[in-house]
Amino acid sequence: MNASCLWKLKKWKFSRKHAEIFRGCLIPTRDYLCPVKLPRPRINSFCPTSQVHQRIMSPVDYAKKVAAIKAIDEYIKDNYIIGVGSGSTIVYAVERLAQRVKDEKLHVVCVPTSYQARQLIVNHKLQLGDLDIYPKLDCAIDGADEVDANMTLIKGGGGCLTQEKIVASCAKQFIVIGDESKESQKLGEKYKKGIPIEVIPMAYCPVQQKVEALFGGSAELRMAKMKAGPLVSDNGNFILDWKFPDSQFDWASVNTTIKMIPGVVETGLFVNMASKVYYGMADGSVREHKLQ
Ligand code: 5RP
Repeated sequence: MNASCLWKLKKWKFSRKHAEIFRGCLIPTRDYLCPVKLPRPRINSFCPTSQVHQRIMSPVDYAKKVAAIKAIDEYIKDNYIIGVGSGSTIVYAVERLAQRVKDEKLHVVCVPTSYQARQLIVNHKLQLGDLDIYPKLDCAIDGADEVDANMTLIKGGGGCLTQEKIVASCAKQFIVIGDESKESQKLGEKYKKGIPIEVIPMAYCPVQQKVEALFGGSAELRMAKMKAGPLVSDNGNFILDWKFPDSQFDWASVNTTIKMIPGVVETGLFVNMASKVYYGMADGSVREHKLQ
């Protein structure tokens, strides 16, 4: 960083809060240091139709945010025990939850689905819980990689599928949030990376071969980024991404069959679990999907 940038940085009193509000925006990092080019953000505004938000966030992030806000506003009540999902959309949900807890003096307990979720809960000074103390949750909120017309989900793009499924399974209501790009008629239409399968490391080769022999396609070992070798999940396992062939699958039966393969810990197929899905749009509206 050169001297002129440092001067600008000091002048603007660049704070962590400012950095937070710009997360996901399209403006290159160096422009954060040039206040003359940007509107000053309204840090405490959560108005979903705020012009400021629309200007400084990418349309996809804005869509995620409006979905997250609506879900938190409609589902969270005082004294709730809440499952907190993982990914980028849940960040907006936790921000909104923290805002409501502060403004409305709500008492809620948050059960995380990953280290990421745990950090979010702690950083927002929300009460952290776990399934030992709270095995029954009022509600769980999470993102998804894809949601089909039957509300079957692919989850685990962020590698947190196992804890996400456990937490969702303990909740009376499982609420899914995402931008409209997550909605599809048929799984695989939108999300092209395949169905994540968490496996015990020593079993990844046999599981790979068995899944491919049973259903076709290819099950690829997910590799880490910024670390050599396979990605290691929060549970110390590997993840296979099964790119399935384009055919008619009965996902409930596929899920059960894969889970029966020795070495499989969990699949990213969430069948008959979601109670409601909120899809945010770039124009600030939110479409809701609930099965009758
Ligand atoms: C992580 C997940 C996420 O919920 C899913 O990948 C969606 O993430 P995002 O909100 O970033 O689109 O399943 O394991």
